[in-house]
Amino acid sequence: MPELVNRAFRLAARPEGVPSSEHWALTTEPVPEPGEGQVCVRVLYISLDPAMRGWIADRESYVAPVQIDEVMRAIAVGEVVSSRVEGFEPGDHVSGLLGVQEYVSVDGRALTKLEGDRSQLPLRLGALGMPGMTAYFGLLDIGRPEPGQTVVVSGAAGGVGHLVGQIARIKGARSVGIAGGQEKCRYLTEDLGFDAAIDYKSENVGASLREHCPDGIDVYFDNVGGETLDAALARLARHARVVICGAISQYNNPDDIAGPKNYLALLVRHATMTGFVVTDYVSRWPEGAREMAGWLQSGELKTHEHVVKGLEGFPEALLMLFTGENSGKLVLQVAG
Ligand SMILES: NC(=O)c1ccc[n+]([C@@H]2O[C@H](COP(=O)([O-])OP(=O)(O)OC[C@H]3O[C@@H](n4cnc5c(N)ncnc54)[C@H](OP(=O)(O)O)[C@@H]3O)[C@@H](O)[C@H]2O)c1
Repeated sequence: MPELVNRAFRLAARPEGVPSSEHWALTTEPVPEPGEGQVCVRVLYISLDPAMRGWIADRESYVAPVQIDEVMRAIAVGEVVSSRVEGFEPGDHVSGLLGVQEYVSVDGRALTKLEGDRSQLPLRLGALGMPGMTAYFGLLDIGRPEPGQTVVVSGAAGGVGHLVGQIARIKGARSVGIAGGQEKCRYLTEDLGFDAAIDYKSENVGASLREHCPDGIDVYFDNVGGETLDAALARLARHARVVICGAISQYNNPDDIAGPKNYLALLVRHATMTGFVVTDYVSRWPEGAREMAGWLQSGELKTHEHVVKGLEGFPEALLMLFTGENSGKLVLQVAG
């Protein structure tokens, strides 16, 4: 193999508040030859996820924090360059925790081989990957919407949210999205078929929920937390299910997280609120991916990947998740 050079983003310092370029170091090093049992992968697309903010905080979570000087953890898809594992050939497409970098040699057991051509790869980080499985299992297993019921999702124009509202519709429920800005709201109702959308930046969310959910909210799929969660709790229907998928409004302020003031609504409305982590469903991903692929093929489900180009743009691109500059699943294109 000719000597390859890898550029990688490593964690240089732990941020307090919003991460910025000073918290990252872009390093250059030769790519090591794959050892026995390893595969060398050229990274093509990197998934940018709100969870990355949690991974760089030094606190207990469902995964260990990224250490200082460690390559930033990221789900990614790439192409096999060389392999010392039977079943992986140069040119094969794979996914795994490949990191924010251009090349990596990893244990073949940590990789999933992907079918389909290169144009499908961003989808593998979106509707057919982790965010798609989050929307699918979070909504259907925890939210359990029934036909005719009302599903409200926050972060509705994002990677997970834009899928949640559409799956709700496919299952015969009404879907109401909460998103930032009129253009995102137009996209939800006109392009994706949501029944209604609420612009939390210009509307009173409580009043708009009363208008669009006259019989209350049966399933609230929360990606945002904070005031939006409180507004939804105030509008729950009897026996409602609240899915705590995420709370992006709180991620940059981990030492002073705003808890729900309206939690007694759970008692009054005989409701439940359940935390959900998609990795609990890994054994059922093939089932979820099969169904999502079927809906994509039939045209019932539309998906959008927001692709930003260039590894060096990683620090700024990550912030788009927190400023709302992304629409749909945010992906960093490294090569290809
Ligand atoms: N539990 C799990 O297993 C799991 C798995 C994947 C993701 N998640 C969670 O799911 C949520 C969505 O993830 P994603 O990857 O699909 O991200 P995303 O929705 O594509 O991007 C984040 C969006 O959040 C909105 N946002 C940012 N700051 C906000 C604030 N202060 N208040 C309200 N909205 C804000 C922005 O949209 P606007 O323009 O609308 O503000 C932004 O586009 C996150 O909370 C994430 O942590 C959980």
